[in-house]
Amino acid sequence: MYAKEVKEYLQGQLQSIRESGLYKEERIILSPQGARIRVKEGEVLNFCANNYLGLADSPELIAVAKTALDERGHGLSSVRFICGTQDIHKELERKISEFLKMEDTILYSSCAAANEGLFEVLVGPEDVVISDQLNHATIIDAVRLWGMVHKKKLGPGSVEFPENRVMKHSDMADLEKHLKETQNKRFRVIATDGVFSMDGDVAKLEEICDLAEKYNALVMVDDSHSTGFFGPGGRGTPEYWGVEHRVDIITSTFGKALGGATGGFTSGRKEMIELLRQRSRPYLFSNTLAPSIVATGIKVLDMISQASNLRKKLEENTAHFRQKIAELGFDIRPGSHPIVPIMLYDAKKAAQMAEGLLEEGIYVIAFSYPVVPREQARIRVQISAAHSREDLDFALAKFEKVGRELGIIA
Ligand SMILES: Cc1ncc(COP(=O)(O)O)c(C=O)c1O
Repeated sequence: MYAKEVKEYLQGQLQSIRESGLYKEERIILSPQGARIRVKEGEVLNFCANNYLGLADSPELIAVAKTALDERGHGLSSVRFICGTQDIHKELERKISEFLKMEDTILYSSCAAANEGLFEVLVGPEDVVISDQLNHATIIDAVRLWGMVHKKKLGPGSVEFPENRVMKHSDMADLEKHLKETQNKRFRVIATDGVFSMDGDVAKLEEICDLAEKYNALVMVDDSHSTGFFGPGGRGTPEYWGVEHRVDIITSTFGKALGGATGGFTSGRKEMIELLRQRSRPYLFSNTLAPSIVATGIKVLDMISQASNLRKKLEENTAHFRQKIAELGFDIRPGSHPIVPIMLYDAKKAAQMAEGLLEEGIYVIAFSYPVVPREQARIRVQISAAHSREDLDFALAKFEKVGRELGIIA
């Protein structure tokens, strides 16, 4: 029964979200995802999708998806181990492993599910996970879940959780301290994003792998903002740092550069993946990936492995935008990643800037507390291979105009 008290409680929660300025409105898109999208205000240039390679509306992928629908059907109505595994699921897993140079791969419905199903299987109460402070919410939740699953009841009202550690962001001295202090644990896992989504900074994987070897720890990387385009062959942050065989576990998504639809995976050592197939709950108890998604995943990997033109275009676009926006006098976080945080520090200014830009036909999002730390409000621009040079220059001119109007740049 939907009691009055429940309704009032929920309304109160919503009210407090609104009052704290954290209520999220969804902008409705009336076209496919792309560099240009149609919204109710008209056509705008889109600078806030994770559509790094511009494949979200790729005619080639759409054609492959249509063929897969005809030949393999719309869905399988099953989890993998009952009757949800087609040959193409196995082919996709094989292709991902080859691409990332990992021993084996297991598909999930999303990277969120891949993360959720990882730690509770691979580590137990006698182990420790050391997680970067700025890791993605799905890693944080996955670590919490591991803690809940492996908690020990000590007596009435008394529960002991396995110890997890949060390291200061990308701070190698702090990581070493945690590794030293946890030598009494059976296994140690260092968990990090490959690229951190709010700052576009790259995890220091070479140093992390050195420390992992020194202190006998496993390394897990969520490479969602990197797989497919970062590193010389687009293989992500392990390739970028030249540590491909030293990273033990990679989780990633098909929802960003790899076509932008949906789906995720975990790649890792053979025994890890085998055990995940036996025990990982979001894999065991959730529906298999739809055939059209699997077929496009295979196609994307072929496209990325064979052609570097999209990666090159993305790199050139990113370098151009980063250089020009800095020349205009905006304060950006340095780096080479297509996530370009334009720092405004003040939440109100950031929101005004995003609104002003939308009026000029540029769609960007302002991020403020609690998504980023207080006084660290920003506009996060995301560059795509789908942007033309004209698109970038148009956006830069609008940033200049609105930035001047708001007194952000001189
Ligand atoms: C670092 C990271 N991990 C995981 C995810 C979740 O990916 P998916 O949409 O496939 O669940 C995201 C998406 O925002 C992400 O940025």
